[in-house]
Amino acid sequence: MSTPSSSQGAPLATEKRETFSSRKLFILSAIGSAVGLGNIWRFPYVAYENGGGAFLIPYLVAILCAGIPLLFLDYSIGHRYRGSAPLAYRRANRKAEVLGWWQVLICFVIAIYYAAIIAWAAMYCWFSITKSWEKNADGAGGFFMGDFLQVQDEVTVGFDFVGSVFFPMLCVWLLAIVIMVAGVNKGISRANAIFMPLLIIMFLVLVVQSVFLPGAVDGLNTFFTPNFEALSNPSVWAAAFGHIFFSLSVAFGIMVTYSSYMKRKSDLTGSGYVVAFANSSFELLAGIGVFAALGFMAYNAGSSVDEVATSGIGLAFIAFPTIVSQAPLGSVIGVLFFGSLVFAGMTSLISILEVIVAAFQDKLGWKRQSATLVVVLPVALISMLLFPTTTGLYLLDTMDAFVNQFGILACALVIVIVFGAGLGMLPKLAKHLNRHSSIKLGTGWMVLVGGIGPAALGYMLINEVQSKMAESYSGYPVWFNGVFGWGMAGLLIVGAVLLSLVPWSRNSKINDPEFDQHRANVEAEEVPEVTGKEY
Ligand code: ALA
Repeated sequence: MSTPSSSQGAPLATEKRETFSSRKLFILSAIGSAVGLGNIWRFPYVAYENGGGAFLIPYLVAILCAGIPLLFLDYSIGHRYRGSAPLAYRRANRKAEVLGWWQVLICFVIAIYYAAIIAWAAMYCWFSITKSWEKNADGAGGFFMGDFLQVQDEVTVGFDFVGSVFFPMLCVWLLAIVIMVAGVNKGISRANAIFMPLLIIMFLVLVVQSVFLPGAVDGLNTFFTPNFEALSNPSVWAAAFGHIFFSLSVAFGIMVTYSSYMKRKSDLTGSGYVVAFANSSFELLAGIGVFAALGFMAYNAGSSVDEVATSGIGLAFIAFPTIVSQAPLGSVIGVLFFGSLVFAGMTSLISILEVIVAAFQDKLGWKRQSATLVVVLPVALISMLLFPTTTGLYLLDTMDAFVNQFGILACALVIVIVFGAGLGMLPKLAKHLNRHSSIKLGTGWMVLVGGIGPAALGYMLINEVQSKMAESYSGYPVWFNGVFGWGMAGLLIVGAVLLSLVPWSRNSKINDPEFDQHRANVEAEEVPEVTGKEY
């Protein structure tokens, strides 16, 4: 291991690093992070846009070949090097710190738009009771784009304030800050212990209710019927890989950070399989629920599912309200669906914010409360400045597409290259995983992460860059994509380099005596395979 060269003098007393008080709470929190808007709001529309049933094939390939292997990579780094992403990577190799800051900045971008969608969902819980969209002549679509988001026709940056989005966003941010200030056990674990059971019950009731609606079978047929032509399109594969990383919370620092809070004696791969299985089950359930509901819409309209479904990020917010209006006990369906989005979203938002808070806490030696306030308040302010506006939807759409398909994919690619071919650390990390796991990994894991991973990710990324350059995303003006898509993605890299150049403070976690003890314990388990010097 590279010794911290920044040990400027003796360390000051730092706050003790928290750990999840039990493995169950770690798993619950990791599932809470993974199961989020990605599963309920994003997956159905991404699947729909990328060939419907055909999307399930790249999706499954992406989980098995990249999602789960990279989840284990994140776990091994976080658990072994016990730090937020920048600290853990730096402990693995001094030069790798910049990757951690890249992930922190990706989380920053995701957090600012993620809170907006949670706020939309919170408002839609209320609208489901009042069925507010029924007053709009254009129905749920007209209500969502017009009355609620007040989206202006021109794709530009307008700061025209939309109060109906701002106030729920304010509540979301306040709740997030309260949870984050309370810390890993009193805040994050507790929030997950409350929200996750509620989410599971609500969502199961919802899906059962949806599949018994008339016409549901047609919706499910649309969802599950493969369109094999889509498989020859590399963009469909890029969408699947980008989505699975987002959905599993992999390759953008979350799982590195959460696994750094695991106790030394733990079961890494066993926990990972539980998390991945729960996440995908939830995602498929969401697809079933949304498409069953679309089938019902089509049945009522006397048309096909393709005709009633709207593609894009409005799918959940346009399809579900229509069902709320038409189905028996519609308001119940609406409250269950949008309430699920709020709970799933909150547990993921706090994990995204934890990446940012923990990074600054570690680097600057701040206490939990001050780190949370100093870091999260500006994030909240930027979020509340950009998204409750008449052009917020365009910004959100562009940022989501570019941060997922370039930011996360590119970051995942660089990480597998650096830890595989670059530093040759996979054998050491595999041994670490096997020493702390019930299900052992063979060389297959190293081949997937170090060989197939970089090749597949590299190929997809090149194709994605080419296709996005040839055609402007979503038909938005070139300058808009340039600034908020390419520009934002590029700025994240520049920002990461700059943050990695900021010196570690004297009371930062780089000098933490607790970590020396952890390292000594891990090394003791490893003797004689790995010497302390190689750690
Ligand atoms: N994993 C989180 C989600 O799916 C970020 O929304």
